[in-house]
Amino acid sequence: MYEERYAFLAEWYDPCATLLRRFQLLYYPEDGSVEMFDVKNRRIFLRRTKCNELHQEDLFVGSRVNVFSRHLNLIEYGDQYTANKLGSKKERTLAMIKPDAITKIGDILEMLYSVNLMVTRAKMVKLTWDQAADFYLEHQSKPFFNNLVQFVSSGPVIALELMGEEAISVWRGLLGPTDSAVAQWEAQQSVRAQFGTDGVKNAGHGSDSVAAAARELEFFFPSTMCHGPSNTATCADCTCCIIKPHAISEGMTGKILNSIFAAGFEISALQMFSMDRANAEEFHEVYKGVMTEYPSMVSELCSGPCMALEIRGKDSPKTFREFCGPADPEIAQYLRPTTLRALYGKSKVQNAVHCTDLPDDGVLEVQYFFKILDG
Ligand code: CDP
Ligand code: MG
Repeated sequence: MYEERYAFLAEWYDPCATLLRRFQLLYYPEDGSVEMFDVKNRRIFLRRTKCNELHQEDLFVGSRVNVFSRHLNLIEYGDQYTANKLGSKKERTLAMIKPDAITKIGDILEMLYSVNLMVTRAKMVKLTWDQAADFYLEHQSKPFFNNLVQFVSSGPVIALELMGEEAISVWRGLLGPTDSAVAQWEAQQSVRAQFGTDGVKNAGHGSDSVAAAARELEFFFPSTMCHGPSNTATCADCTCCIIKPHAISEGMTGKILNSIFAAGFEISALQMFSMDRANAEEFHEVYKGVMTEYPSMVSELCSGPCMALEIRGKDSPKTFREFCGPADPEIAQYLRPTTLRALYGKSKVQNAVHCTDLPDDGVLEVQYFFKILDG
């Protein structure tokens, strides 16, 4: 009997050598183990090892997976068997939350979650007039072009990369008809019916084909060294919040963002990051040797994508810290049951969110994510 085995061609960006390395990645569903071969040097890179962080549902072309703190892009199926078995109808698409709906991002993430679309990248950006015109190039000759470009460059937008079965049509279905008034008649539960206003201000955008999705994802999240539209961090009078990887993978992101808005804070920058171990160590450096949880805090932070937020509001470092609650969710549930950690935390390490400790560090932590990591 042959043991079941899936094969992929995977790419990993090696930051030390600053080059892309290619691997054959083998996954054995029987015991959840992986094996990796270096394609160029034709040698074993990783002996067959159990990898608890890897799940079969994450394995398809276009997906990014984390294998022992290395972020790998699965770029091709390694054999016909794997392609037939796992290559169903998974797609990637670009969603853009337009300026009129960015405070509804929590509700929109909840809707995405309910239809099994995964958010694999997210970034709040402010488009210039030229960038918006470039994004909507196909509509250049339409009478509404100027209005449209003016509108989407009038304030921040949030770009999302969505992944899942038939992601393109599922997201467009969730958006509803282009004109919000029509959406209110024909699809009351849709994004545009709930959060849009009219034919121009209609809350969101969704790619309409595989080719458009590829172009539009490249526009916001370029794969080469060139930089897409800039993030919106002000790096002034702010504090930093990180929604931790466990909370993201448990589908809590929408609820947490809703709670933050409901408490009256402004989210002036938002971006998902996949941190490697070195970055996570650097970010948590101040806790090294001080907190016994330091190693597990580092492991948690690089175990999957996290979401960094720049939070603004009156006296935000202090008030936001109070809103997050005591670091230990058990204590939080007892003393401050309405805080984020009481509501969404599980343990001292998996306590849903990180927030800046010292008021003076707010700007520094925001800069670490939005200036250095997104540099
Ligand atoms: O966004 P969608 O693909 O549903 O519609 P579209 O026909 O590709 O148009 C792009 C965007 O232009 C719409 O989402 C509207 O914001 C805007 N538009 C408009 O302002 N007036 C129209 N008559 C049609 C579209
Ligand atoms: Mg369109």
